[in-house]
Amino acid sequence: MSQVNDCLAVIKKAASGFVPQVGMVLGSGLGTFADQVNAIASISFDDLPGFPQAGVGGHAGRLVLGHVSGTRIAVLQGRAHYYEHGQADVMAVAIQTFKALGCEALILTNAAGSMVTDAGPGSVMLITDHINMTGVSPLFGAQGNQRFVDMTQAYHHGMNDAMRIAATANNVALHEGVYAWMCGPHFETPAEIRALKVLGAQAVGMSTVPEVILARHQGLPLCALSIVTNYAAGMSPTPLSHEQTMEYAKMATDDVERLLSAFLASYEVPA
Ligand code: HPA
Repeated sequence: MSQVNDCLAVIKKAASGFVPQVGMVLGSGLGTFADQVNAIASISFDDLPGFPQAGVGGHAGRLVLGHVSGTRIAVLQGRAHYYEHGQADVMAVAIQTFKALGCEALILTNAAGSMVTDAGPGSVMLITDHINMTGVSPLFGAQGNQRFVDMTQAYHHGMNDAMRIAATANNVALHEGVYAWMCGPHFETPAEIRALKVLGAQAVGMSTVPEVILARHQGLPLCALSIVTNYAAGMSPTPLSHEQTMEYAKMATDDVERLLSAFLASYEVPA
């Protein structure tokens, strides 16, 4: 817990008295949402012990604190992934710091491949559940009965409803689906994608699920959005690449930013 306390000290110095209501993680290509924050402080991950080192292209590596649509938020511009060093708990300090700062809820975002023809590149998907395909947990080594986290309602129904309402009111076509977490950093094979479809997944990606588990361990309610950057392997002739992910994430940026701003405008503490 001492790294969390060190982070709290740095944050309290930079944004004295500021208590965020909502914590947010911005995934690949979504970092621009941080520009919409009426910022009180912006802190480099380098100054926050235990926060992820900025690694993957498109990630700035900053914690931004401030207001969007009248709601106080703490935004991680960038995240770390299991595939970077093979550590599933790489986001543990960041998520615990959200909780310790006073956040009541989390919004997680990511870039993902779609396994549904109707939800092509540039669409937005609300994650309603997930399948952990990696065989690892960010809670390996955690102690106490609290580690046996109930994942039955990992994605908060009330927050999901609020996201649906915000989408409808702002003409954002919001798809829904189950997200399969694959370890990466390689993309999937077409056979893996066929298998994931059989298992009941609609989206596939390399992030978010460990953060969901860590957040639920902290008792934080959450919802999560995927930006579809590509059809999953074998579904389209376009080769998969990180460059494509970044390019297509931009297509959905407008929709996601409007959606997040609208959600925050009518934000209520999740019941
Ligand atoms: N697979 C895994 N991760 C991803 C993909 C994908 O197709 N697209 C964006 N992130």
